[in-house]
Amino acid sequence: SEVIVFAPATVANVACGYDVLGFAIDEPGDYIVARHADKPGLRITAITGDDGKLPLDPEKNTATVAALDLLHHLGMTDRGIEIEIHKRMPFGSGLGSSAASAVAGAYAVNKLIGEPLSKMQLLPFAMTGEASADGAWHADNVGPCLLGGIVFIRDNDELDVAQLPVPKNLWAAVVHPDIEILTKVAREILPKDIPLANATQQIGNLGGLLCGLIQSDYGLISRSIHDVIAEPRRQKLIPDFYKAKRAAMAAGALGFSISGAGPSVFALCEGKEIAEEAGEAIAKVFNAIPLSNQVHISPV
Ligand code: HSE
Repeated sequence: SEVIVFAPATVANVACGYDVLGFAIDEPGDYIVARHADKPGLRITAITGDDGKLPLDPEKNTATVAALDLLHHLGMTDRGIEIEIHKRMPFGSGLGSSAASAVAGAYAVNKLIGEPLSKMQLLPFAMTGEASADGAWHADNVGPCLLGGIVFIRDNDELDVAQLPVPKNLWAAVVHPDIEILTKVAREILPKDIPLANATQQIGNLGGLLCGLIQSDYGLISRSIHDVIAEPRRQKLIPDFYKAKRAAMAAGALGFSISGAGPSVFALCEGKEIAEEAGEAIAKVFNAIPLSNQVHISPV
């Protein structure tokens, strides 16, 4: 028997929630096939869609690092399991590519062996997988990828996470400009210390965004989607960022910022039509082709 699982792309930070807020979108994402095998141990039998960049060594691949950590926890490392990884999203895109693989790996193996753990219990194993790729420990991609919807992380070390209600008509337009940004670099350019006034503003906006989501208050959501900490530094890595922001806001978006560490950007919108218009306007700025794999319109 075999299982096929899909793990979606995610938008981390959502402007004011650096490392503590993220949401999942419908696509793109990664597929993983897991099946039982006679030979003991976990093996990767195929990888597609990665341009040959991903390691076949199960101890080096985010998907199988997560799965191995899970099997280790369950005392089942001698199980014979074969894994196929089908990457359907770009690396270094700010869409949580390594998180998606890690989640898919842990989720697929858990499912194959009869679901001994709940989704929530899989979180630390998926985290280990992602951390093996990006070196940092933040659940704002893995959390929403695994649990779906919008996820808030009160504490990354304790993995104290909460799924938030999603307003009915909240949509996202996500556009991937054709450049690559290394998460490591995008983290290094952030300041170690931030002025108290900026911290206060950011906390106010994060609180406002959470309240807005809970109360389906689009006005409050819109007033709250501002990032005064990471965006001012990271936008320098994304040519025409502010031009794209103006275009998205002119199209009626509630707010616009960088998806995770970038270069992808997102606009949150009330309704599918506005999301489509914002997506088109942003795509124009980045010369991305609408309806290509660079532009994604999705309910949140
Ligand atoms: N919160 C992370 C960051 C997401 O902004 O660096 C990147 O994976």
